[in-house]
Amino acid sequence: MGILLAPSLLSGDFGDIRGTVKILNEGDADMLHLDIMDGVFVPNISFGFPVVDAIAKYSEKPLDAHLMITDPDPYIDRFCASGVSMLSVHYEVCTHLNRTVNHIKDKGMKAGVAINPHTPVSLLEDIIGDLDFVLLMSVNPGFSGQGFIQNTYSKLRRLKKLAEVINPDCLIEVDGGINVENAAAVKAAGADIIVAGSSVLGTKNPMAAMKELKTVCSG
Ligand code: DX5
Ligand code: ZN
Repeated sequence: MGILLAPSLLSGDFGDIRGTVKILNEGDADMLHLDIMDGVFVPNISFGFPVVDAIAKYSEKPLDAHLMITDPDPYIDRFCASGVSMLSVHYEVCTHLNRTVNHIKDKGMKAGVAINPHTPVSLLEDIIGDLDFVLLMSVNPGFSGQGFIQNTYSKLRRLKKLAEVINPDCLIEVDGGINVENAAAVKAAGADIIVAGSSVLGTKNPMAAMKELKTVCSG
């Protein structure tokens, strides 16, 4: 079994969104990862609905939006209207997480919960049964191009066990610092989906980079 590849647009050229999406349409991307940052939950601001809508207009692949915002609930319907099919919210900001997850699913989207590097996977015990995927952060969210946090491997193995017991259909997505050197090990530890920002759109040849990531994970 291979891996699903979710290149992040954050490392792309925002002056040429159409061209960036074209590369991902034609290459080995399985979905497009959209990093939405509010400058409050994370120390960075990325992009909002006009840009999401432009990406959606050109994308032939599913959109996977990762909300790094403190108050996601009021925006769930709007992401659905944009054509997003996978939506993740952060555990650390959702007071009524069960309600938020059900809202996402009621809109017909796949619901995911993202956890920061310091957040224990055991905290997902009573929500993982309701999830379509967990997004495990392997860097502190906010920026692309950071180094992969090594403790993620142990978290991944524990998360995989938890999912196998409670919800074997729940996919595990890993996000941050993934490249051709560590992708196979991330997959071996339990990842179903890998996000890749700088190691795809930050390279000179994103088509080749996607192919290589797929190849190293194909074993
Ligand atoms: C970080 C974002 C990531 C980021 C990944 O806050 O959630 O999706 O774009 O970029 P790389 O792969 O360069 O770490
Ligand atoms: Zn992300």
